Amino acid sequence: MKNVAVVGASGAVGDRMIRLLEERAFPVAAIKFLASERSAGKTVTFRGETFPIEAIARGAFRGVEIVLSSTPGTVSREWSPIAAAAGAVVVDNSSAFRMDPNVPLVVPEVNPHDVAWNEGIIANPNCSTIQMVVALKPLHNAARVRRVVVSTYQSVSGAGMKGIHELETQAEAAVKKRAIPAPSKFAHQIIGNCIPQIDEFVPGGYTKEELKMVNETRKIMGDSTIDVSPTCVRVPVAFCHSESILVETERPITVEEARALWAVAPGVTLVDDPTNRIYPLAAEAAGRDDVFVGRIRQDLSRSNVLLFWCVSDNLRKGAATNAVQIAEELLKLEPARS
Ligand SMILES: NC(=O)c1ccc[n+]([C@@H]2O[C@H](COP(=O)([O-])OP(=O)(O)OC[C@H]3O[C@@H](n4cnc5c(N)ncnc54)[C@H](OP(=O)(O)O)[C@@H]3O)[C@@H](O)[C@H]2O)c1
Repeated sequence: MKNVAVVGASGAVGDRMIRLLEERAFPVAAIKFLASERSAGKTVTFRGETFPIEAIARGAFRGVEIVLSSTPGTVSREWSPIAAAAGAVVVDNSSAFRMDPNVPLVVPEVNPHDVAWNEGIIANPNCSTIQMVVALKPLHNAARVRRVVVSTYQSVSGAGMKGIHELETQAEAAVKKRAIPAPSKFAHQIIGNCIPQIDEFVPGGYTKEELKMVNETRKIMGDSTIDVSPTCVRVPVAFCHSESILVETERPITVEEARALWAVAPGVTLVDDPTNRIYPLAAEAAGRDDVFVGRIRQDLSRSNVLLFWCVSDNLRKGAATNAVQIAEELLKLEPARS
């Protein structure tokens, strides 16, 4: 049984983390919920009990063993080391520590062993990257992935509570034929639109979100030779990221072989019967934990290239589920250490 703190408890990911701790019957001895001053005094329910949300403070981590944190990067950069110094292991959802060589970046279906070398902080990867590497790992094991071309169709909940609110208010205005409120979270109006920008641009024309997919994929897969060519797009969908993925492998894999690999891969569910209009859909993947794969087909000109469609709930497997799974991996380490 563990003393747990959920940091960012009032947020979109924080809410899912609370539900996941319940659903997965995580062995909680005591639990507390932290966020900013803005949320102090609000309440959350956990296992039928009502708890106050407390403002984060230095003393808040005394006696806490596991912290599940989902705050903006700047907040994590300040507070996750404080929690770790107080003796907790922090599973941090932000981008603050993901590429730190002293911090493991873990997707339990891919590199669970990396949990063991943590020094108090374990990073949870970017949501678009998590679902992609879960799908790529079995292909990599069988035939070595050399190159990936990915286009994402990312939901507004990937931008947190404010992203969900912006879609809802714009959708309501559109239905009522009122003027669409000006965007504040996204660079442009999101209703009726696809925005080819997630996060800021960096020199070279890519966005930070796109470079996360490049760098995090290599770190999680433990292979710095995998090339990733990403285009990240925000779409007016509330939950679940969808991805069109082209993968080139060293050894050609047939569609049948890929299907067989995914059929037994942990965390993957095949949804692939296109002639009956059955393929992964955001509306069906929402609220579920798996990575859904379908529309599998051979490239028309290359035998060592496959294309597929991949969908997962960004707030669950892309964030909260992965974080709680990491905490479960931590529990597994304990008998070996004692
Ligand atoms: N959304 C996703 O799909 C997703 C996926 C993977 C990773 N992430 C990452 O997870 C983190 C949280 O994302 P989210 O989508 O849950 O965002 P969100 O809905 O905006 O929630 C942010 C949380 O952080 C808290 N917070 C903000 N400033 C704080 C401060 N100064 N001190 C303490 N707490 C503070 C907020 O508390 P208040 O409500 O009190 O302001 C809220 O609980 C981000 O780093 C994000 O990049 C998100």
